Amino acid sequence: MQDMRPTDAARASLYNKNKLKLGLFAANCSSGRAATKVPERWRANWDDNLGLAKVADEAGLDFLLPIARWKGYRGETNFHGSVLEPTLWACGLLAHTKRITVFSTIHAPLLHPVVAAKQFATADLIGHGRMAMNVVCGWNQDEFDMFGVENREHHLRYAYGKEWLQVVRRLWEEEGEFSFEGQFINLKGLISNPKPYGGSRPLIMNAGASAAGQEFALGNSDILFNLLVTPEQGRNAVAASRARARQVGREDIKIFTAGYYVCRPTRQEALDYHRYYVEEQGDQEAYKHLLDLQFPSPEARKHHGADALRMRHIGGNGSYPMIGSPDDIANELKMISDLGYDGMAASFVNYLDEFPYFRDEVLPRLERLGLRQRGSID
Ligand SMILES: Cc1cc2nc3c(=O)[nH]c(=O)nc-3n(C[C@H](O)[C@H](O)[C@H](O)COP(=O)(O)O)c2cc1C
Repeated sequence: MQDMRPTDAARASLYNKNKLKLGLFAANCSSGRAATKVPERWRANWDDNLGLAKVADEAGLDFLLPIARWKGYRGETNFHGSVLEPTLWACGLLAHTKRITVFSTIHAPLLHPVVAAKQFATADLIGHGRMAMNVVCGWNQDEFDMFGVENREHHLRYAYGKEWLQVVRRLWEEEGEFSFEGQFINLKGLISNPKPYGGSRPLIMNAGASAAGQEFALGNSDILFNLLVTPEQGRNAVAASRARARQVGREDIKIFTAGYYVCRPTRQEALDYHRYYVEEQGDQEAYKHLLDLQFPSPEARKHHGADALRMRHIGGNGSYPMIGSPDDIANELKMISDLGYDGMAASFVNYLDEFPYFRDEVLPRLERLGLRQRGSID
């Protein structure tokens, strides 16, 4: 197969001059990434998503990343109980924005690759090359049960994902009909038109955390994700991924991580609000159900250190907390860039209420720190 890489010109969000790419994560899901009962929590309705995408686009953010979730995590708020379907969400946003890249997140085992290839090519044409794919192999059997699909054994999930992505890529890239004979996928007379935008293809991301997941990401995607827990751990994780990338000739791969912001005029105000929405108003039942699903055994929970990270699990789904004044947040992002990360996908409790302050106060600081260019996407 010819290796069609996305070009600099068409896939601006990954190849622009911003040293640290910034995106908003999970705005398609009710409560975003915060399992909280506060009345201002994110409802994830369409109009708010559209408004958010427009302000993020105008502010020069690089990407929007949704979560593919089919079932809520219960609790008083039914955390993630209402989720806009990511590919349709992306299409709508692409039609109303100009520069920002919009991902869809899809579960490879739940969507036929022929359908996926055509959906993404169509969306990419709508967005003139701004569609991107976060391909996930799945972990949540509770929602897979809704499809009558059994999660494969862990390493086989990624073996399946590899074949799935090969089919999608060939449908985007090959002109004539072909057949595919794999271990899991056997299909005949495959063809798909139209092709993605401009002789290029959508960016591909994978956020697998395990060794199998990271190998899959290195072999098959443009962006991988590393969980950032502490600066020291993050530095080591990035170094390990870069070393492995060099071994397999993938020096070009970008490494992103995920986090959440609580940005207020003073550090104390930010800490107070974090304590309020997590400690006083956290949806403990939803948090417990989510952890039970994610880490079914006490060993898995212990290994992950999930209990020690309780605050950040409620505050931002276990991702890295950035809590403080605009100076604090800018310094955190500088530190994250210095650790070697190329991008940050992050959330707010209420994206639309909180993003304008971040835009006005944090983005200019990042420009002064040399991490970003003013409103520039090229
Ligand atoms: C940024 C990010 C986005 C993710 N999005 C989804 C998603 O939308 N749906 C999903 O089921 N899993 C999602 N995941 C989970 C990963 O795909 C993966 O299953 C998880 O990190 C565990 O890694 P492993 O599969 O290698 O064990 C996401 C993870 C991260 C870090």
